[in-house]
Amino acid sequence: MDRTSLMTNIETNWEKFLDLQISGKIPFFTKNERMYDCLFAQQFNREILEHLFKVAGFLRKLTKNKEGMEFANSLLSHKRAMLYFVQPSTRTFFSFLNACHILGIKTGEIRDTSTSSELKGETPEDSVRTFSSYVDLIIMRHPTPNFVEKTAWLMNKTKRPVPVINGGSGKDQHPTQALLDLYTLYRSFNGEIDGKTIAMVGDLKRGRTVRSLSYLMKNYKNMKLIFISPKEFKMEKDILDFLKKHEITFHETDKFEEGIKQADAVYMTRIQNEHDKSGESGKVDVSRFCFNKEHLNIIKKNAIIMHPLPRRNEIAVEVDDDPRAMYWRQERNGMWARAALISYIFGVDDKLLG
Ligand code: CP
Repeated sequence: MDRTSLMTNIETNWEKFLDLQISGKIPFFTKNERMYDCLFAQQFNREILEHLFKVAGFLRKLTKNKEGMEFANSLLSHKRAMLYFVQPSTRTFFSFLNACHILGIKTGEIRDTSTSSELKGETPEDSVRTFSSYVDLIIMRHPTPNFVEKTAWLMNKTKRPVPVINGGSGKDQHPTQALLDLYTLYRSFNGEIDGKTIAMVGDLKRGRTVRSLSYLMKNYKNMKLIFISPKEFKMEKDILDFLKKHEITFHETDKFEEGIKQADAVYMTRIQNEHDKSGESGKVDVSRFCFNKEHLNIIKKNAIIMHPLPRRNEIAVEVDDDPRAMYWRQERNGMWARAALISYIFGVDDKLLG
């Protein structure tokens, strides 16, 4: 189904649109057979992922010298972006900000709705529409589930649509985190991701990073996931059903050491207590799910340790100096992967690959 018939079918009704399966929504966020809005991890296929990894790698090398940086800066110097981050963020915000600057995009930001006319009663939808009048791209983090998707949906119905990139929404989706996580795996394993075992540890129930990364596994062969968590924070059924549908092997356990021993990548996460309704995180003993210096001796020699960050005590600081600790590189990879994605959305990626 193309965008026009999809528009007709849903009669521009948001509730009807929201009810569609993701696969049914994707055409609405695609233009000229290219991703236009980046909202769901399920939008990435292997071809796009590996193309973006190449673009990111090229940008990295290109910008090491002044001439290369000036060329990158010229690519989208006629564009402006709004970073609308009304939920706390350090690295997603700054990596997107710097990704825009690498490509020459001028940026504005809203990080607190109390500084916008939302305080005077303007709806978030009208606020976002107002921003879009002045910019060519919206990058958004929002605590409300589906709000980023709704923004893109609204934009696509206006006469001046602008692309929308999801920088994290609700507890469900963080597609560009999944992109940079996979880019980190790609770089760490010299492009050989097929057949790898990934252990995801921590609050799998409410962590949008592990959910989004799980979706990307469908693009690779013979992947195995080990979900390690206390029983209170097990991975949700919708993700397990997705993995079954795509014949991706997974195993659930609460035995931390047994799980991490088998992994090629150990992906640690923090407890997402911001989603607590009545202090439930405090009632769960998560001390068994922390990576300490001793664990360096039991993981595989070539395994890598990842974390979307920020961390609390899930990884001891002494682990940072081990060459297998990848999380600081992982966050820097985010800037390159996001710059590659923005260049792709605006169709200047080919100028980079030549
Ligand atoms: N990984 C991540 O989303 O970090 P921030 O919350 O700091 O953006």
